[in-house]
Amino acid sequence: MNTLRYITAGESHGRALAGILEGVPSGLPISAEDIDRDLKRRQGGYGRGGRMKIESDYSEILSGVRWGKTIGSPITLLIENRDYENWFEGMSSDINAEGSIPPVTRPRPGHADLPGAIKYDQHDIRNILERSSARETAMRVALGAIARKFLSEFNMKIGSYVIQIGKVKASSEFKVQSSEKELLSLFGRVEKSLVRCPNDTASKGMIKHIDKAVKEGKSLGGIFEVFAIGVPIGLGSHIQWDRRLDGRLARALMSIQAIKGIEIGPGFEMSGKFGSEVMDEIFYSPPHPPLAKGGSRGGNIHGRGMLGFYRKTNFAGGIEGGMTNGMPIILRAAMKPIPTQRKPLRSVDIITGKSVEAAYERSDVCAVPAAGVIGEAMVALTIADAFLEKFGGDNMAETKRNYDSYIKYVRKF
Ligand SMILES: Cc1cc2nc3c(=O)[nH]c(=O)nc-3n(C[C@H](O)[C@H](O)[C@H](O)COP(=O)(O)O)c2cc1C
Repeated sequence: MNTLRYITAGESHGRALAGILEGVPSGLPISAEDIDRDLKRRQGGYGRGGRMKIESDYSEILSGVRWGKTIGSPITLLIENRDYENWFEGMSSDINAEGSIPPVTRPRPGHADLPGAIKYDQHDIRNILERSSARETAMRVALGAIARKFLSEFNMKIGSYVIQIGKVKASSEFKVQSSEKELLSLFGRVEKSLVRCPNDTASKGMIKHIDKAVKEGKSLGGIFEVFAIGVPIGLGSHIQWDRRLDGRLARALMSIQAIKGIEIGPGFEMSGKFGSEVMDEIFYSPPHPPLAKGGSRGGNIHGRGMLGFYRKTNFAGGIEGGMTNGMPIILRAAMKPIPTQRKPLRSVDIITGKSVEAAYERSDVCAVPAAGVIGEAMVALTIADAFLEKFGGDNMAETKRNYDSYIKYVRKF
């Protein structure tokens, strides 16, 4: 059972999205602003469709937080769908509103529409698409913002950037030698780019590529990277398949709508090299600087040259044997092109059985920049879960004590 559990609910055009996060220790400072910052980042990005102009997401904290701090009970969040006023009857739970909008009967290829309709015996595909929509990820980002806040109390940071949109590639900003400092420096640059790409030339190329796709009624996918820095050595485990952190992170990222491939470090590229070229050799120098006052908040505990055992490269993407090894965690996710097409694809009407054009729902042309932000949330939730599994604690002071004592032990090892 996960230490940190979460669940989301809500339809794309329903009244609201809801989410519950359980397992956060008491005493973590959290505000709606902490959450809304990430919601705003998810809504940005060049290539989004009309909906992003209607929606401006804000979270409401319904439970689990009192006077600015968590109290250990489940945290419930609510994000209203501002578009709901246009769907009041169409999405009503009242039987008297039945038939107030026409059913969707033309399944869109690349969506949950057809398998969902058959599996759930629904002849109005709206009953499937409303929940399969990536609108749901707004709540994952909100819950992830709480996990991010928790991790920040232990000096961990999570970021992401886009390295490919369609055929336009930025040479990966992550190099196997990238230090924590180099990765951190990407933060500011990424948020200034409309496509969340830290490379200016590539950003411009990506924007042009999206403009062309919009003009031609086409859609695009791409690749983003997520990194986590400051993660202590030893999260996850080699002991059992489902405790391996690489598998848990891959699952978390793969669960994002339209993500079809995951790499840890330069995973696929490594497969074509000699082993001697891509293993991160182990070095040692005495730990420094001394553990700062306040323990976990002060001293960095690993990374090149900071403490004891270290690596000069990071082909492993921060994970060996299903456990963190103290180096930055680097993950890459490939997103397929947005399936909904302005020039509709061929489909079959589920009522008449006749060949038709697939339904068109207002749609993004490219959502890779937003997917990166969602990836950050999923990584934050997964690492926070593994962290709490290792250090436990019902209140933040207890978790910090456990963490600090482990760090002291690691430094002495
Ligand atoms: C942030 C984000 C936004 C998306 N926006 C759209 C969209 O506007 N139109 C669309 O057809 N698909 C969109 N998708 C992709 C679909 O949600 C996804 O392809 C579909 O639910 C089927 O799931 P699958 O691709 O994982 O099989 C988006 C995905 C993400 C992550």
